[in-house]
Amino acid sequence: MATTADTDAMRRAIALAARALGATSPNPVVGCVILDAAGQPAGEGFHRRAGGPHAEIHALRAAGDRARGGTAYVTLEPCDHTGRTGPCSQALAEAGIARVVYAVGDPTPQATGGAGTLRAAGVQVEAGLLAEEAEAGNAAWLTSVRLGRPYVLWKYAATLDGRIAAADTTSRWITSAESRADVHRLRAEADAVVVGSGTARADDPHLAVRGVDGAVQPLRVVVDTEATAVRPGARVLDGAAPTLIAVADDADTTHLKAAGPGDEPVDVVRLPRAERGLSVPALLAELHARGVRSVLLEGGPTLAGAFVAAGAVDKVVGYLAPVLLGAGPAALGDAGITTIARALRLRMTETVRIGPDLRITATPGHSPADSTTTAVPTSHKER
Ligand SMILES: NC(=O)c1ccc[n+]([C@@H]2O[C@H](COP(=O)([O-])OP(=O)(O)OC[C@H]3O[C@@H](n4cnc5c(N)ncnc54)[C@H](OP(=O)(O)O)[C@@H]3O)[C@@H](O)[C@H]2O)c1
Repeated sequence: MATTADTDAMRRAIALAARALGATSPNPVVGCVILDAAGQPAGEGFHRRAGGPHAEIHALRAAGDRARGGTAYVTLEPCDHTGRTGPCSQALAEAGIARVVYAVGDPTPQATGGAGTLRAAGVQVEAGLLAEEAEAGNAAWLTSVRLGRPYVLWKYAATLDGRIAAADTTSRWITSAESRADVHRLRAEADAVVVGSGTARADDPHLAVRGVDGAVQPLRVVVDTEATAVRPGARVLDGAAPTLIAVADDADTTHLKAAGPGDEPVDVVRLPRAERGLSVPALLAELHARGVRSVLLEGGPTLAGAFVAAGAVDKVVGYLAPVLLGAGPAALGDAGITTIARALRLRMTETVRIGPDLRITATPGHSPADSTTTAVPTSHKER
């Protein structure tokens, strides 16, 4: 039976893990808190980047001798393998930790087994504390392990009547500065930001993160089948973040040969065509192979429709502004849904006021359930 001290420590570990969202791929985010034998905080840490020490190692270093006889709370089962760093199970046992409480089991065949190693070393091991919260915090990585493709969050900004641009294609700015700042947080938490050629052509978007301290820039991806939308001088080709242009096998990319920063060639990947544009599964497989575990799909509606049709949207975040347009494209284009019985029903997981706008978060694949509505002052909206 978990005590309040147990749940407090695990909740702190989950919060620590979240600090590195967007920075650890292809690894998960992990947080660790160590309480000494008397139950006092002795050390804490989180995995900051792939190749760096795991959360447990940071926490053990901070705790020093006070780890002996103490309890380690870890959001993910301690690893049992030697990758770029040594096995955490062994490090915890050697430091004299008496009890390990972890939230979620490690599903990867190469890292699993830490709990068994710890038990064999005489350490008391408990699993499952705040598992749902910890899983939500690691949703991107866990989904990518389970499905073998990156987790996809589709984000859009719309008027109250569901339009993402005016009839003349102008769309800046539908939502408020507060909502746009929130989108930069989403970008910072993602490994890649993806848009279609229509958005590249209409908006010349930059897609890099601005205004988030310590953010790791995501890979900017434009899905540009014929290689005609991203021209030399496009904002997405500056040096602010890496960029990848996805094109068809037979597209002419001569103009991209010296269009990168410092006249370097632009990174181009050739993918198979689909009925319309490029194959979404092939794009996601390519991104996964490049270590991308989470994608922020920023539109537009045509590409988003293709992702929905491919069953490749894991979360939807819609920013709704109290604005009416009455004409202009809808947030989502054709997703192959022709009758109400086949509507993609989502479970609303959160609604938050952001400045004058409403941010709605929903996930597919569940029946409607309870949701929350919260008024969050701007200064408190960062989570
Ligand atoms: N408010 C918002 O949240 C928001 C966000 C983004 C965009 N927008 C607005 O949306 C408008 C552009 O939307 P859009 O729908 O025209 O552009 P889009 O969705 O960005 O791009 C669509 C294009 O992507 C290419 N594509 C490549 N693979 C595809 C696939 N598998 N399925 C579908 N398309 C694929 C197709 O052109 P090719 O095959 O020729 O490359 C297609 O025409 C602009 O007005 C922009 O301002 C608004």
